[in-house]
Amino acid sequence: MRDDMVYRASEASRDAIAEALARVRRRTLDIVDPLSEAAFTVQHSPLMSPIAWDLGHIAEFEDLWLVERLGEVVAESTLPDIYDAMRTPRSRRGMLELPARAAILARLEEVRNRTLDTLARLEFSPSNNRLLRDAYVYELVRAHEAQHQETILQTISLMEPERYVPASRRRFEPPGPAVAGEMISVPAGPFEMGAPARPFAYDNELPRHVVTTSAFELGRYPVTNGEYLEFVAAGGYDDRMLWTVGGWEWKEEAGLVAPLYWRPAGLEGPLSSGEATEAAREGGVAAWARTTSLGAEPLQARDPVIHVCHHEAEAYARFAGARLPTEAEWEKAAGWDPESGAVHPYPWGEPLPTPDLANLGAAAFGVSPVGAFPAGRSRLGCEQMLGDTWEWTSSRFRAYPGFEAYPYDDYSAVFFGDEYIVLRGGSWATDGGVARNTFRNWDYPIRRQIFAGFRLARDLAR
Ligand code: AVJ
Ligand code: FE
Repeated sequence: MRDDMVYRASEASRDAIAEALARVRRRTLDIVDPLSEAAFTVQHSPLMSPIAWDLGHIAEFEDLWLVERLGEVVAESTLPDIYDAMRTPRSRRGMLELPARAAILARLEEVRNRTLDTLARLEFSPSNNRLLRDAYVYELVRAHEAQHQETILQTISLMEPERYVPASRRRFEPPGPAVAGEMISVPAGPFEMGAPARPFAYDNELPRHVVTTSAFELGRYPVTNGEYLEFVAAGGYDDRMLWTVGGWEWKEEAGLVAPLYWRPAGLEGPLSSGEATEAAREGGVAAWARTTSLGAEPLQARDPVIHVCHHEAEAYARFAGARLPTEAEWEKAAGWDPESGAVHPYPWGEPLPTPDLANLGAAAFGVSPVGAFPAGRSRLGCEQMLGDTWEWTSSRFRAYPGFEAYPYDDYSAVFFGDEYIVLRGGSWATDGGVARNTFRNWDYPIRRQIFAGFRLARDLAR
């Protein structure tokens, strides 16, 4: 054991670390438990890994960070080639010879046992080792596994015609009416953006820095299916003026006519924009279902729209005479307290998420209607900012001023630039220990298999 790897923690915190790792693992195993061996191993889409890959990658990531990097040797050890996300991109993961289900589950358990051995042997002392300070590396590995749960759930949603039956599923109902289209005013001025450095934040959330916004308004709720259907009914997918040049080109090439998984009842085969527009005009919400591996479910007018790409979100915003928020605007509306000028880690304040505050952690296996979480509103009054759907912003994924890659370049640094758009807030599939006001997700603007919707913003005269 290297000296600088030694820090002192009470047995209680050692137990807390082990328990946090055990909890996230139970959820991973619950999620994959209903899957057949074939559903487990096959690559359902070139956009996604075989689920077996996600699990193998979870095991090897843990082995790298909690066994090898905390052990005696190997500061230079890396992930095995096939489980390295950079060296083996998603498009090629379907060609891999992955171990069978039983072998992968055994590997997860084997690594976990080594992790617990290492944890028990570590002598925690006040340490200048950043990996161990505040148990950083343990939280990194826990959050990594939780993030891959969401990836696995994306794959599960699209593994049709294979069916998926979750072990349990609840629906959150709203306590009262919600006023669609209601906007919340946010005054001009500075706020502190980004996370505090301790105890844990991803490198891309750091450093915390002051950002000044103009006055703007932001949707109290995310845009709903009912609102989005008006865009379909109005021929929004055929109205070039509503789309950016790149957005229109992509929409044409990909044949987009409605959000992913939307389908008018009774219509089979590829859907034309004419058919979609007519179904929306004639039948309204009642004419539509959403069909995923969970089955066909009636489209709910009051649920946030989900599975739209950034181009669709931008086109809808233009249709509504609005725009998408910048990520700074989003974070200010979520975290800034106009009374004190302070920022909070969650919209509702300091407490960790619970089921009465946000729809997270795959409890519902889907979104919940707007207005379902009044207790989770931000100090400014925006609701459902965490959970339900990720929200597309207008921001490209860039480093904050003073950014330092840590603990490895491939988490964030290699993705900075104009190719990726930032999403905020977390979805129904996001673990409650990952979602927070400062968390930054990112993806290509064409992606729709992720659990993403959006909310509207507009400039306000000050
Ligand atoms: C933050 C969701 C973009 O899936 O690429 C998982 C999370 N990073 N393993 C991704 C992540 C390394 C990351 N996203
Ligand atoms: Fe990963």
